[in-house]
Amino acid sequence: MKVVAVVNQKGGVAKTTTVANLGACLAERGKRTLLIDLDPQANLTVGMGVAWYELESALHTVLLDPETTPLRTILKPIADLPLELAPGHLDLAQTEAVLLPHADKAYRLRNALEALYTEETYDWVLIDCPPSLGTLTQNAIVAATHLLIPTEPKFYAFAGMDTLNKMIVALTKSLRFRVELLGVLVTMYERGTRLHATIAAEIRERFEDKVFETMIYKNVRVSESELEGVPIILYDRRASGAQNYEALAEEVLLRAAG
Ligand SMILES: Nc1ncnc2c1ncn2[C@@H]1O[C@H](COP(=O)(O)OP(=O)(O)OP(=O)(O)O)[C@@H](O)[C@H]1O
Ligand SMILES: [Mg+2]
Repeated sequence: MKVVAVVNQKGGVAKTTTVANLGACLAERGKRTLLIDLDPQANLTVGMGVAWYELESALHTVLLDPETTPLRTILKPIADLPLELAPGHLDLAQTEAVLLPHADKAYRLRNALEALYTEETYDWVLIDCPPSLGTLTQNAIVAATHLLIPTEPKFYAFAGMDTLNKMIVALTKSLRFRVELLGVLVTMYERGTRLHATIAAEIRERFEDKVFETMIYKNVRVSESELEGVPIILYDRRASGAQNYEALAEEVLLRAAG
């Protein structure tokens, strides 16, 4: 089982889009997949067609009181795929503050997942993080076996990844666990934009074979599918966004096998 935290403290770099669409592509390949929405914005939950505001319990209740609400009890099946979602909720923002004084604050998700694994098995667990390096993101990193870092080919990409890297090193040292970089993913790539080509090349120079060969091109169909509440492969399979995420799924499976 691979547990992948999709993380970048920069907002709007396609973390949520990647969790939703990579997850759907893995599930379509027969891999049993669980998506976890750890972001108070609950974009992933909405993007999967689940109304978080109608839910009595969601991830925030699990993190606060796992005895009363085990993770298993909040899971929602998605489409006709071996795909499930642990929905997020606006109240996750408060949860972060409530957890702060607790010694195990960064372990809540990991513990909840470990309890779930005693009953269920998954091939892939993908965790969507908020655009910050706070307690929620720490929960994701501590629960993860692997990290996937999406980034736009923009000037700020390098500074952001340095900060992220420092935080991960500090966290793994102080909490004594190991996590591996699955890969860096270039997203929102615009064909024919010289700046994007230049920066994508610089990202490859810096992170070498850790950068996925697949890049996700900018494609309005991706945003449309989110509005419709379905993954892009179920919305428009021929769209470049669908094909890019299919290719990413193949590459991820190869990397995980090797
Ligand atoms: N390949 C793409 N082509 C066009 N639009 C995209 C693509 N990927 C994502 N988007 C759009 O860009 C916006 C940001 O994407 P997304 O929400 O996945 O980023 P995020 O990193 O999760 O943001 P946040 O940090 O706020 O959680 C969304 O409106 C999404 O629909
Ligand atoms: Mg997001």
